Amino acid sequence: MLSEKLTAQINEQMKNEFYSGYFYLAMATWLSKKKLDGFANWFYVQVKEERAHAMKMLDYLVTVGAEVDLLAIERPPQEFESVMDICQKTLEHEQLVTSLIYKIMDTAQAERDYKTIQFLKWYVDEQMEEEENAQGLIEKVKTAADVEGGLFYVDSELAGRAYHPIASDGDSK
Ligand SMILES: [Fe+2]
Ligand SMILES: [Fe+2]
Repeated sequence: MLSEKLTAQINEQMKNEFYSGYFYLAMATWLSKKKLDGFANWFYVQVKEERAHAMKMLDYLVTVGAEVDLLAIERPPQEFESVMDICQKTLEHEQLVTSLIYKIMDTAQAERDYKTIQFLKWYVDEQMEEEENAQGLIEKVKTAADVEGGLFYVDSELAGRAYHPIASDGDSK
């Protein structure tokens, strides 16, 4: 059993995870247009990660027998000022997501729903990594600005990012 409040919050967060993917898809296509294929690759991988985060929530709702509600996904911003603008918006977005995960955790703790607390811990860890990755991107782009052709070095490095499915991201989905 999952409380009505947690059911609503997890459904909302599932949508937020899909939205994150949508937001990163907008960034990936903007970067593709600029022929920064490595940066675009990094964000296309990020889209897959966000989809996996959403699907993991769907799996959880189904597993505990809670009502699944597929909410409308908003249209993301699709215009950006620069690569740095994209990197900064990525960090801001991940910080926002972290705060949203914490809010769900607050409810789970108030309700002493230990299985949901356990489930959400994965997202707490994941968000730490997500913020670290976004911060890392900002640093790389900053450093690149001081070197001639620096952005292209970073671009070729980011071309190497590959998607690694998460353990509970079932094959069926
Ligand atoms: Fe996520
Ligand atoms: Fe994320």
